[in-house]
Amino acid sequence: MTLSIQTAKPLFLTALALCAGLLAPPARAEEIPRLARRGDATQLLVDGKPFLILGGELGNSTASSLPYLEKQWPTLKALNLNTVLAPVQWDQIEPVEGRFDFTVIDGVIAQARAHDTRLVLLWFGSWKNSMSTYVPAWVKRDGRRFPLARSADGKVQEILSPAVPATMAADAKAFAALMTHLKVIDGDKRTVLMIQVENEIGMLPSARDHSAAAEADFQKPVPAAVLKATGKTETGRWERVFGPGDATDELYQAWTYGRFVEAVAGAGQKAYPLPMYVNAALNRPGVAPGGYPSAGPLPHLYDVWKAAAPSVFQAPDIYYPDFTRWAALYDRPGNPVFAPEADQAGKAEAPANAFWLFGQHDAIGFSPFSIESVGDPAGNPLSGAYALLGELTPVILAHQGQGAMRGFRPPVGYDGTVDAAPQTATMGDWTMKVSFVDPWTPKDKQLFAGHGGLVIQLAADEFLVAGSGITLTFGEGVGLERVREGRYVDGQWVEGRWLNGDQIHQGRHVRLPPDAFGAQRVKLYRY
Ligand code: DGJ
Repeated sequence: MTLSIQTAKPLFLTALALCAGLLAPPARAEEIPRLARRGDATQLLVDGKPFLILGGELGNSTASSLPYLEKQWPTLKALNLNTVLAPVQWDQIEPVEGRFDFTVIDGVIAQARAHDTRLVLLWFGSWKNSMSTYVPAWVKRDGRRFPLARSADGKVQEILSPAVPATMAADAKAFAALMTHLKVIDGDKRTVLMIQVENEIGMLPSARDHSAAAEADFQKPVPAAVLKATGKTETGRWERVFGPGDATDELYQAWTYGRFVEAVAGAGQKAYPLPMYVNAALNRPGVAPGGYPSAGPLPHLYDVWKAAAPSVFQAPDIYYPDFTRWAALYDRPGNPVFAPEADQAGKAEAPANAFWLFGQHDAIGFSPFSIESVGDPAGNPLSGAYALLGELTPVILAHQGQGAMRGFRPPVGYDGTVDAAPQTATMGDWTMKVSFVDPWTPKDKQLFAGHGGLVIQLAADEFLVAGSGITLTFGEGVGLERVREGRYVDGQWVEGRWLNGDQIHQGRHVRLPPDAFGAQRVKLYRY
């Protein structure tokens, strides 16, 4: 699809300045942030090198006002984030059709640069949490050109119908203008690393849209790509191939949303090819589609979304307690693992989830929601966790995709039950038992759900152990040749205390106390 982008004044001026050589030229193609396979992992490359997002997502309205955002930076810096996830809203950048105003997003980028922080921008376009409240007034008020979705009983919803080409074209045009602008103002500095396209897409309160456009669409033959993604050989209409019911309705809706997103993302990437993703509002187990926002990039719809929108990857917003279960469902070949909304910031489980996600799933990033709302940021466990993960970043990145890392944390059930039973893992020639109940702290003073860490095999007989509240034992006949506390400074190990005696229980265990985040290097031997 070719889109003509009406040139806005600020965009025109920046383009002119660029031609006149007043601004640095855009990045060479290989320097633009991109995704790359390494072993069985997908990494995010920034400035040509792998990057780990230690992030936090701003509350929805925080970045809409520059003075308001400015006040949040002390908190963001105290939390040791390296990346902030911030919305860009369609109504703010295109208040009048075809006239773009990038003042606010330019200011957001300038503030991020001043605070030495990168950005992931969230395109609040046609949909934000299912609804269409971030679209400009000229879209909201023109229901003929931009029809809304309808539920099964025919009721109009405040949700733009994704089956309408005019809506798709308008969203894609605005998004392409944004990406064109970003290329001009940020192509050289690359403060912006990635883009989320729309936000938590999902149909409510029915499993699919019943507007006139959607009804007509639903009677057409199932596209070949959907048949392939679902392994069907039969052809014909949706209900003929898949049978009538909610599951079929949701599948159709997922395909329709996915095609819309692909058109928007594709138009943006044509202008400036940053990595892009879609985020999912996860489905409550046991609830029918429509009872939850139906047809988003959910685990059970992964394949149809991938077929519909190959230009984006898929990421879960995990607010349910069973973080590990949901995250694992998005670790699929070629899909980078990213938690853009890892529950609310300030939750005691956040650090353990971060260590686990990086260690177990080679994640490109972790980011709790409403990050600026954390009280006492310097004293929040996430601050210490991110400080340590920041130091470890070069080591983690060097071991991604090599099968040499593991993450450990007690799994939590959907009902919040914590399973603090020890876990066993084999790495190389060694088997380790990881316990989450600290042996030397009264049990009633421990929050097991907050305990966790990662282990990296550095050499045949040497491991890096990092995190908080975990204790490792290695079985009979395996001794601790040496255990060193330490830090990584600019990627180099700087040794601290030699841990022995009581600190390793006279050779019986390696322990990361629960009241802090620490790293130890451990060399094993057999006796
Ligand atoms: C998920 C959404 O994606 C966010 O924008 C925000 O609305 C949170 N829910 C609120 O918990």
